[in-house]
Amino acid sequence: VATKAQNIYFHEGNLSRDEREALMGHKGATIWMTGLSGSGKSTVAVAFEQVLHQRGIHAYRLDGDNVRFGLNKNLGFSAEDRAENIRRIGEVAKLFADAGMVVITSFISPYKADRDAARELHKAAGLAFYEVHVNCPLEEAEKRDPKGLYKKARAGQIKGFTGIDDPFEAPEQAEIDLRTDQLSVEQAVQVMLDKLEEGGILS
Ligand code: PPS
Repeated sequence: VATKAQNIYFHEGNLSRDEREALMGHKGATIWMTGLSGSGKSTVAVAFEQVLHQRGIHAYRLDGDNVRFGLNKNLGFSAEDRAENIRRIGEVAKLFADAGMVVITSFISPYKADRDAARELHKAAGLAFYEVHVNCPLEEAEKRDPKGLYKKARAGQIKGFTGIDDPFEAPEQAEIDLRTDQLSVEQAVQVMLDKLEEGGILS
């Protein structure tokens, strides 16, 4: 998206990210979870946030439904609105990560281009970005159907539902692939924890 305003200037602060991270005791990063509705994004994100918190890591979750109640309340589920949803989340996550937080986002984020844009934003700012494919077969997600949305989509009561009559472009090179139909929540959290540890984010 091109910048609309003119005559605007970026104002540098006197504190560096290193100084902010030193105060935090760890690095900032964004953990970007992507997957079908009912794949387990929110469940794993909630557990992961809690484990990080217990370890003294400043973690914060941005979650699909929640963000759509506030920041993105003017957006629906067309391809354009989903792109704008993800664009804003990418920007917000970048700000939080720049502040030194470990951000966990859990949005379907079905389009590769939108996820790649969020990744690029972080890369350009020198911030770590981990794409996590919350990889659960459609049949299993539909069997779980925690909110009864698949049932409604199959019945034609919801149009443009991801996985049913709207696309989900699976990541090809996610840093982490979580088969949530095979792993327990604890195991999934451990995989993510190991990855952050390995990346030197937690110390
Ligand atoms: S997106 O595609 O990333 O912009 O979607 P997101 O912001 O993550 O919102 C997904 C949640 O919205 C509910 N919902 C739908 N999902 C997909 N398609 C359609 N048409 C739709 N309508 C409502 C649903 O509860 C999703 O939550 P999760 O947690 O993924 O099940």
